[in-house]
Amino acid sequence: MLELVTRPFVLHVSPQSSSMASAMSMKASPVHPSKITTVKALVESTSSSSIPSFYNFTPYLRDEPIASDAEDSVPIIDITLLVSGTPEEQSQIIHQLSKACSDWGCFMVINHDVTESLTKAMIASFQEFFDLPEEEKKEYQGNHVMDPIRCGTGFNPSMDKANYWRDFLKCFAHPEFHTPNKPARFSEIAREFSKRNREVVIILLKAISKSLGLEESYVAKAANFELGLQLLAANYYPTCPEPEKAIGIPAHYDHGLLTTLVNNGVSGLQVKHNEKWFNVNIPANVLFVQVADHLEILSNGKYKSIAHRALVNNKATRMSIALAHGPSLDTVMRPALELVDNESNQPAYVEMTYREFLELQQTGRLRSKFQSDIEQSRAV
Ligand code: OGA
Ligand code: NI
Repeated sequence: MLELVTRPFVLHVSPQSSSMASAMSMKASPVHPSKITTVKALVESTSSSSIPSFYNFTPYLRDEPIASDAEDSVPIIDITLLVSGTPEEQSQIIHQLSKACSDWGCFMVINHDVTESLTKAMIASFQEFFDLPEEEKKEYQGNHVMDPIRCGTGFNPSMDKANYWRDFLKCFAHPEFHTPNKPARFSEIAREFSKRNREVVIILLKAISKSLGLEESYVAKAANFELGLQLLAANYYPTCPEPEKAIGIPAHYDHGLLTTLVNNGVSGLQVKHNEKWFNVNIPANVLFVQVADHLEILSNGKYKSIAHRALVNNKATRMSIALAHGPSLDTVMRPALELVDNESNQPAYVEMTYREFLELQQTGRLRSKFQSDIEQSRAV
């Protein structure tokens, strides 16, 4: 079995891998039934106690250890201390943030301004969207990673070996804001939700810059964050009759700087920490934050993007909303000059724009820990 996550992490572009990816997909060549467009429609159209074989992910999953709940826990960051703490509290919390980013690559943010009622309204609005007739959702079916609104089901015939047990809607929320015009109020709620999440990220990026020994505005400037791409993505994981065989989203890394994530109270997210999978239960008033690839690149690997995946269950539909907060599409991203030298800290990542990164990732030609042969980090 191939490794899911490949390190070392020096990023390079492989001229052969796209033909390799297509050769591999020809071998597996999954077939999508013509009438079923979403997992939701599939589940609602049958009472079968087994899943169609093209959702069977077991040949591609490694039997990796799962941590027991008591083993360790995701760090918690109280954002009010970053904003209005005493200088001593601020330096303590920046230290905690630095540890969270380097030891875990993820943390829970508490006391932020994305209110529980706004989050609930956002989840309810996405639910209404997924409840629209299949025909209406089809209007938003995009195929390209740069389509500003894209609705679909986890499936890319040229790359994926088995279909994912999830449907999704992805919209660009910044610098331009795009959303479907239905359901009613969706757009208004999505705008507020994205804006408040972005405000949290702006605070975190300042603190993260300081934690790297850089000036407060460093990461935002280097990523041209004012024009940064913010992607609002909702994942819909219907109940699954054979949850141990299917996967919601396989192990991957997110591609932005940071991802903020909430869910509807149903668990399923796992993160990889110390070579074990940890279940992440996200309380209603918490924002779960993940380090993504471009913070890894900027920090020259000091902070590493975290591998994570979404499992499914047979009891309740799970919904999650992830916001990927990335650099501007046309900014060349590279390790911060202040963090590299010609001796022990050589730059570990090649330079490219965020747009190039995203496009390469889609073709399977991005060869590094960011793109393994089996599972692609293109989920957000
Ligand atoms: C994603 C993702 C995890 C989840 O959308 O990139 O990793 O819990 N989602 O749904
Ligand atoms: Ni993800």
